[in-house]
Amino acid sequence: MSSAPAAGLNRRRFLHVAAAVAAASAGSSITLISCGEPAPGPEPGPGSRSALPVPATLSAVGATLIPGPGLARIAPGESSAAWLFNDMLPGPTIRARRGEQAQIRLVNQLTEPTIVHWHGLIVPEEADGHPRRAIQAGATLDYRFPVVQRAGTFWYHPHPHSRTAAQIHRGLAGFFIISDEEEDSLGLPRGEREILLLLQDRDGDAGKAFDYAPSDTDLHAGILRNVPFGNGARMPSLNVIGGRYRFRVLNGSQARVYRLGLSNGAPFSVIGNDGGLLPSVAQVDSVFLGVGERVDLLVDFASVKVGSRLMLKSLPFEMATTSTGSFSQGAEMDLLELLRTEGAGGIERPLPATLSNVAPLAAASDRAFLLRSSNQKEVHLINGVSFDMDRIDERIPLGQVERWIFLNDSPLPHPVHLHGTQFQVESRVGGRNTVYPYEGGWKDTVLLMPLEKVTVLVRFDRYRGVFPLHCHNLQHEDLGMMLNVEVT
Ligand code: C2O
Ligand code: CU
Ligand code: CU
Repeated sequence: MSSAPAAGLNRRRFLHVAAAVAAASAGSSITLISCGEPAPGPEPGPGSRSALPVPATLSAVGATLIPGPGLARIAPGESSAAWLFNDMLPGPTIRARRGEQAQIRLVNQLTEPTIVHWHGLIVPEEADGHPRRAIQAGATLDYRFPVVQRAGTFWYHPHPHSRTAAQIHRGLAGFFIISDEEEDSLGLPRGEREILLLLQDRDGDAGKAFDYAPSDTDLHAGILRNVPFGNGARMPSLNVIGGRYRFRVLNGSQARVYRLGLSNGAPFSVIGNDGGLLPSVAQVDSVFLGVGERVDLLVDFASVKVGSRLMLKSLPFEMATTSTGSFSQGAEMDLLELLRTEGAGGIERPLPATLSNVAPLAAASDRAFLLRSSNQKEVHLINGVSFDMDRIDERIPLGQVERWIFLNDSPLPHPVHLHGTQFQVESRVGGRNTVYPYEGGWKDTVLLMPLEKVTVLVRFDRYRGVFPLHCHNLQHEDLGMMLNVEVT
């Protein structure tokens, strides 16, 4: 393939690639992890994939988010009625520097109550988007909070009780990116080689893709559909040049667990997860990503042949599970097509052995949480109870370190998420029986596969107040798999 636009590339995409090529400096790139040659795979016909949309950006200082009805553009010439932030999917990416004061106005143009939560951000209770703080249709809310934590990939989404799943499914979700000096010093890829990727599985039919109509099965296992969407586009595709790319991947699905991998089986580097940089680079060939979790990946395409095609996939995996109709967890999916075009990155700086210093926590006491989905279809409980917004379930003193034991006593995955702090994953027994290197550092969501027991070390060290702990399978969450933790 020459540098001329390939069949199926539209003009905008060609210009995008041309600009990236022009911007790249000459010189050979130091391959961090080489992708090697792609395996031959089934080739979708030309034009069957859509260019991965690039979200717009707003500064956290003075942003306005307007959730309201809009049209999601899922493919050239195809759109779906949706609910969107500022008429975009993903909503505008909010960017902040550590130390800034975020000032964000929420204007609710939906016809029902909503509230926005900053997933992974450590903010005071009144700015956290607790479901108790939902605002009515037509109302406005001003959020103000200092950006206190380290650089990382976070996100925002609605959080009204029993309507979170519907509102996210209708198209309401966006990235929240924090940067700081520690991360700057690594010289990570930016601009056109910093890719934000919001993964969602949907019905492939434009008329149904954004409809929220869960079946009984969906209300048990969570909504699983068989067509991958990236940044709102159905079956997305991205042109890459021969250089290092940073992929910030967010699982913003309803229930699906992905197992990310490349179609040629090549290893890649994980540099960060929910809470920012890992202590050191984790080289892996696959990554489990539960709903709400993020990973920050580096992939170098320098040794991939120009004109060839790779796929970021969800690799198949086995799981003891109840029937989920025609769709199941662990299905193989082609998430993002990667087309190698001409062009080279500049000299890539080698990464240091230590990316970030993470001081390990040591727990003084234990606290246990049993997550159970009963075989009565719509019953999902933590410690035997269903969420009551106004009940306090657990109290923990500010500054105290505890070991929280999460036990999944059911045949379904439960991605467990905590507001108000970041924790450290200590152990996993049963199921996959391991803590993966990409689960190091700081996390706000941890995946419990069926029958797994996971321990995490938790400390709230910033704000007193009431913060939710919940399953991030959105059907489970809406059906009450959530507790209130009060930091006293
Ligand atoms: Cu991503 Cu309580 O949520
Ligand atoms: Cu959250
Ligand atoms: Cu769950």
